[in-house]
Amino acid sequence: MKNIKLFKALEAIPEIDDYFRNQIGGAPACRGYAPGRIEVLGNHTDYNGGNVLGAAVNKGIYIGVRKRNDSMIRLCSQNYPQPVTLNLNNVCPQAQSDSWANYPLGVVQVLRDEGYPVDLGFDFAATSSLPSGSGMSSSAALELATACALADLFDFELDRKTLARIGRRAENEFVGVPCGILDQGVSAFGDEDCLVHIDCFTESFRQVAFPKGCEFWIFNSNKTHALVESSYADRHQECVDAFKILQQATPQAACLAQIHPETVVAERDRLGEVRFRRALHVTQEDQRVRSMIEALRKEDLNTIGRLLCASHESSRTLFENSTPELDALVESVVNQPGVYGARLTGGGFGGAVMAMTEASFAKKDGASIVYRDFSEKFHEPPTIFNCQTGQGACILK
Ligand code: GLA
Repeated sequence: MKNIKLFKALEAIPEIDDYFRNQIGGAPACRGYAPGRIEVLGNHTDYNGGNVLGAAVNKGIYIGVRKRNDSMIRLCSQNYPQPVTLNLNNVCPQAQSDSWANYPLGVVQVLRDEGYPVDLGFDFAATSSLPSGSGMSSSAALELATACALADLFDFELDRKTLARIGRRAENEFVGVPCGILDQGVSAFGDEDCLVHIDCFTESFRQVAFPKGCEFWIFNSNKTHALVESSYADRHQECVDAFKILQQATPQAACLAQIHPETVVAERDRLGEVRFRRALHVTQEDQRVRSMIEALRKEDLNTIGRLLCASHESSRTLFENSTPELDALVESVVNQPGVYGARLTGGGFGGAVMAMTEASFAKKDGASIVYRDFSEKFHEPPTIFNCQTGQGACILK
């Protein structure tokens, strides 16, 4: 890949090779890797042209691929029992238990559409070190790891920005989720000990140092609304509608995140209550991300913690994408010693809470208290783990 022909060998190569050998036979010719991500701050700001901060984690998806002599694509995933087989010249969305294949297939479709030479069938095997359903965007990791592996297999170059853009196009157009660039951008540009700041309006990506002595924890509620995808699409539409109304008052604004929260307040009647709440969340959240970038520069962890909590409160009351489980987790987590702040991470409507903590949090009882309180209240335990930052998407050699 252009300026990132990354050949960083990772320890997981034997696992993907074993799985490939068992499912397909022989060894993969090329391999790709892409990490999961934590949305650190900037909830639903990405598709509104705002700012967002994320971190790539040191866990992700591994892909092994090898060309075939025909035009068939055969996709196997460690997480699903049945392989998906179809013709390269007839790539179409899969349903139900095969729908996981839409992420790699979407990437194949977009690559071909953009003229990249994916012109022969191939065998494909995927393994994952991401805890399943952990809210760390295994879908974006699957898209980007696929693109990396195919770039190596068919010998073409992709820079990081193109990689992120192709993953997002696959998700928007093939999978049909109107997501922004956050997940793919962080998976492409992340690295150890840093956060990725994305200005989603200009689509510019840069790394920001992660404060020393600070750690990420994930508290997964293991509950997701049945309508999570349609709820996401509804919020997306509400934001589009709010922007159309607000643009009349601020014609120079090119996206919702460029509108000042005071304008949103002034236009409350015209917006109506629901659009008012959505727009206030997005515009204030964007300001919180800017404040956090400043606080990161000063290593002001208390301010960072306050911003995280304020973001959750705004998701809960204004964007209304939280759940009783996520609210209970945040409330319980922030009451533990050594926690700077916590908030829901990702699309919402279920999923996980992230927290930034002192390194000492691991040695205290905080995580077990959260586990106990949540289990008692909801009769199902949460999944709790400590997360390290890790490298971005790459070709594995
Ligand atoms: C999901 C989407 C992202 C972003 C977040 C919410 O993770 O994939 O693009 O919109 O939700 O901030």
